Amino acid sequence: MPSSTNDGWKTRVSALLGVRYPIILGPMRMITLGDMAAAVSMRGGFGQIAASGLDNPEDIRAEIRKARALTEKPFGLNIPVYRSNAFDALEAAIEMGVKTITTSAGNPAKIMDRAKQAGLTVFHKASSVKLAKKARDAGVDGIIAMGYEAGGHVGRENVTTLCLVPQIVDAVDLPVVAAGGIADARGVAAAFALGAEGVEMGTRFVATRECPVPDFFKEELCGADCDGTLLLGKEAMPIRVLKNKVVMLVSGMTKADVDTAMVNAGDAAYVMQGGTRDTAVMPCGQIAGLVGCQCSVADVFDEIVAGVPNVLKRIQGVTG
Ligand SMILES: Cc1cc2nc3c(=O)[nH]c(=O)nc-3n(C[C@H](O)[C@H](O)[C@H](O)COP(=O)(O)O)c2cc1C
Repeated sequence: MPSSTNDGWKTRVSALLGVRYPIILGPMRMITLGDMAAAVSMRGGFGQIAASGLDNPEDIRAEIRKARALTEKPFGLNIPVYRSNAFDALEAAIEMGVKTITTSAGNPAKIMDRAKQAGLTVFHKASSVKLAKKARDAGVDGIIAMGYEAGGHVGRENVTTLCLVPQIVDAVDLPVVAAGGIADARGVAAAFALGAEGVEMGTRFVATRECPVPDFFKEELCGADCDGTLLLGKEAMPIRVLKNKVVMLVSGMTKADVDTAMVNAGDAAYVMQGGTRDTAVMPCGQIAGLVGCQCSVADVFDEIVAGVPNVLKRIQGVTG
């Protein structure tokens, strides 16, 4: 467990990121921009701007400026390395003085020389022990171990956070952040018990007041059960999304002629690019069923910071 002081929780992750709490805003395409990153960093966590969807480097610089105008606290930039804008995004981060980047979806070796030459801290998102070792060999500073219950793109290996985190902790001598299926103090305490030194949450933050997604996304997320999501695109790039009419159609789980009067598979579009609760593709994790709607980012932090010691007491009540 991290040591708790008046200055927050001390782990290698909080030290590397320069934050009070090693609680990270999961980068989310076209959602976690400057405002959202700043909202999390201002609470003592680590906000992230997602470069995905910001194809013009000036748009990335503008979001960094926006976050910086709102907070002096550190925040980072997430760069999916397979995307064509990866190098432009990296240069924008360096030019704007961002100190930490996270990489996902690809081999971080591609950008590592330049990142290290510029003195950046790099965390890479990995969905298997093999990929974590590859990232370690490329020279990253930490691993974000993401289980397949997570919202958004997940690994093809179908390994859960509970199994993945301790195996990566044992396999690489680097600080590990747990991602996927964490939404409250119980999940955070569990992640630390597995050896993680930080957590990353996406789904939990989508349901906050500050999050700029359409209301219907928040309503569907907060109304979802634990089986309210499915994986699309299993062969190529699996993505966990909320079940709705268009997703059932695209995944072949509903016949086109049943219950789809207003929807057809061609309507499918990422939620930030339009659509309705029936036609938008809404990435979301299996933890949705635990998430209540319309709290603030501050409420999320308050519940976790106050709740983790209570979880520990409950464990001690069992184990003595
Ligand atoms: C709507 C949405 C969009 C996402 N977009 C990205 C992205 O652009 N880059 C990335 O590395 N991860 C992305 N993710 C994954 C999150 O950063 C985070 O790792 C994940 O949500 C953690 O699992 P959880 O949803 O169970 O909290 C996305 C997740 C969601 C829900």
